[in-house]
Formats: sequence, structure tokens, C-alpha cells
Amino acid sequence: MKVTYYGHSSFHLEMNGKNLVFDPFISPNPKASGIDVDKIKADYLLISHGHEDHVADAEKIGKNNSATVISSFEIVSWFEGKSLKGHPMNHGGKWKFDFGTVKYVYATHSSVLPDGTYGGNPGGFVIWDENLCFYFAGDTALTMDMKLIPATCPKLDFAILPIGDNFTMGYEDAAIAAEFIECDTIIGCHFDTFPYVEIDHEAAKKVFAGRGKRLILPAVGETVTI
Ligand code: NI
Ligand code: MN
Repeated sequence: MKVTYYGHSSFHLEMNGKNLVFDPFISPNPKASGIDVDKIKADYLLISHGHEDHVADAEKIGKNNSATVISSFEIVSWFEGKSLKGHPMNHGGKWKFDFGTVKYVYATHSSVLPDGTYGGNPGGFVIWDENLCFYFAGDTALTMDMKLIPATCPKLDFAILPIGDNFTMGYEDAAIAAEFIECDTIIGCHFDTFPYVEIDHEAAKKVFAGRGKRLILPAVGETVTI
């Protein structure tokens, strides 16, 4: 699977012929100035929570592509008010879409939309088909609930975890999260965008390597093949 990084927590991947875009925050991010939002293809927009640094370009990409928003009930309702299609979910629930099964899982964080509307509970997504399974954690602290993922979902092939600290877990806790979710290949996100989340790349990779895990830190615009 090819996973393209648009900076911060924003990714694109294609699964069973459908384009999935996660947490689009591109046009306000100077580090993502090389990404053309109007060229992004999306059949689905997966939104982990309502903060500006996860939803900024969702309306534009959604309208350009007539994409379906998958998120909490509250966030989906907000986007439906902007004439986007949506599929609402909540913690612990799963649904079989035309690209694969999505389980909406727990995240410890907060969630309010840019205009102050309550965003419901923040979440993450575990997504799988018969060939592959991955976890997009969204913004979260390390939580014991992550141990429920290997107990209730297929074995993970890779996971996208926040590692930038301050607003989410840092890389030390994220390396423990990789153990909790029983996953050896981690793509880091939510790092280096702002001074609060700048990290030492080599130190982060070393912490993961110390636990027998591989940490991939993609450059903005880079496509990683897993
Ligand atoms: Ni957030
Ligand atoms: Mn964030």
C-alpha cells in the first residue's frame, strides 16, 4: 500500500480503488505549501476530531470530490450542514464500507470544531480488508485502551501515531503504544509543524528501535510504500 504524507496528520492512501484522505490540514500549513489541495482525490474523508489542524481543508476537498465524511456523529452533522455527505460513527462501532471495514476507536484528547461547535468524542480508525489492517490514531495520549485493538481487530500491518508531544503523546509514549497495539511498523505524524511539536528525528527512531519497532518519519509530500 502507498501512503502519501501531506504534512502534520494528513495522509492519502488508496484502498480497493477508493481514495481515503485523513485529517486534511494543508493550505494553512507553510510546510505543506508544495501540496495542491485542488489536485487531491478523495472518495472518503476520515476526520479524527474537530480541531482546525485536522479539518482545515476538509470542506474544500469534500466539495471538490463529492466525498463522504467518516467521523463522530457531531462532526458529520457539522459537515452535513455544509452540504457534505457523511457517515456518523462512535466509539467501539464498526461498519463495512466499499473499501474495507472501519472501526472507530478511543482517543484521549478533546474535540471542538473551528466555530466552537462541540465535536463529540475524538477518535481513531482501525481499517482492514482481507489483506491488510492499519490504525490511524488521530490525536491521543498513550492509553491502556490501545490494548483492545489487537484483541478486537485483525493483526496490524502498520499504524500512524502522533509523536510530537505537548498536545499528544510524545515518541517515548508512542513507542509503548506500538507495543500495546502489537505493531512493528509505525509512521509518525503530528511532529515539526509548530515549535510545540518539534522533535529530534534520530532520538525518536532510536527509542522505537530500542523496542524492536521501526519508526518512519515521512517528508511532507513523500509517498511511503508499506
Ligand atoms: Ni487536536
Ligand atoms: Mn492536532
